[in-house]
Amino acid sequence: MRDKITAPKVHAAKGGPKLRMITAYDAPSARIAEAAEADVILVGDSLANVVLGRDTTLSVTVDDMVHHTRAVTGTRPQALVVGDMPWLSFHISAEDTVRNAGRLIREGGAEAVKLEGGRKRLPMIHAVLDAEIPVMGHLGLTPQSVHAMGGYRVQGKQVEAARNLIADARALDEAGVFSIVLEGVPDLLAELITKEVSAPTIGIGAGPHCDGQVLVLHDVLGLTGDAKPAKFVRRYADLESAAVEAVRRFFADVQDGSFPSDEESYHMSEEAARALLSDG
Ligand code: KIV
Repeated sequence: MRDKITAPKVHAAKGGPKLRMITAYDAPSARIAEAAEADVILVGDSLANVVLGRDTTLSVTVDDMVHHTRAVTGTRPQALVVGDMPWLSFHISAEDTVRNAGRLIREGGAEAVKLEGGRKRLPMIHAVLDAEIPVMGHLGLTPQSVHAMGGYRVQGKQVEAARNLIADARALDEAGVFSIVLEGVPDLLAELITKEVSAPTIGIGAGPHCDGQVLVLHDVLGLTGDAKPAKFVRRYADLESAAVEAVRRFFADVQDGSFPSDEESYHMSEEAARALLSDG
């Protein structure tokens, strides 16, 4: 079995082999991520989109995150498990933020938390770090800001916006986050930030120069129905079609009587069967 991956190990991985991160939301998806040797499993609030069928992540609560994080950590992966802090769980006060981050750790079993945003969120990030909870930052296209951004738009395309994101990344790095997700930003900007910060960057729609990459598991596996995938998604399987085919075959076997077979049925002893049949 490989060694347990910790937040300090992820931080120290900068400059080494690219970090491998994927989302998981329950025990089966955690087992898949672990068997594929993920370095980091993110219990993302993207569960709203890919598990709960919502258009945005805004409806996800701390209770939802605790519930799903516990399902993932129950499989005891060697990968680092990061619990995502949902919208409004780190916006109200530092005290509230620490309490919510603490729930993901204590009740969910996460080993670190991720929260979206830059300098604006520094007081909350400091408070969580002070409580000895490792923090993963998340900059660029931050889905919890969907309404403020006016939709899911690539961020940092203009010079001033790009400079702001570099300043945000520097501030998170100085605060002591152990890694930074860069989502939906131009490849050049991601490359500059990656060179600028000591924490490893993990890209999603941020080009090839980050220290690692993350995708949403359901996108990778083809479990997202007819939804048009984002440009940065690479689909490696079509499990939805395979699953439909499997269930269709089950139904066909039910209808033609070949399921269940004798081997798939329980039997009484001959004596008990005879006694029961003689009742009638
Ligand atoms: O919630 C999530 O899955 C994420 C990743 C896209 C980084 O935040």
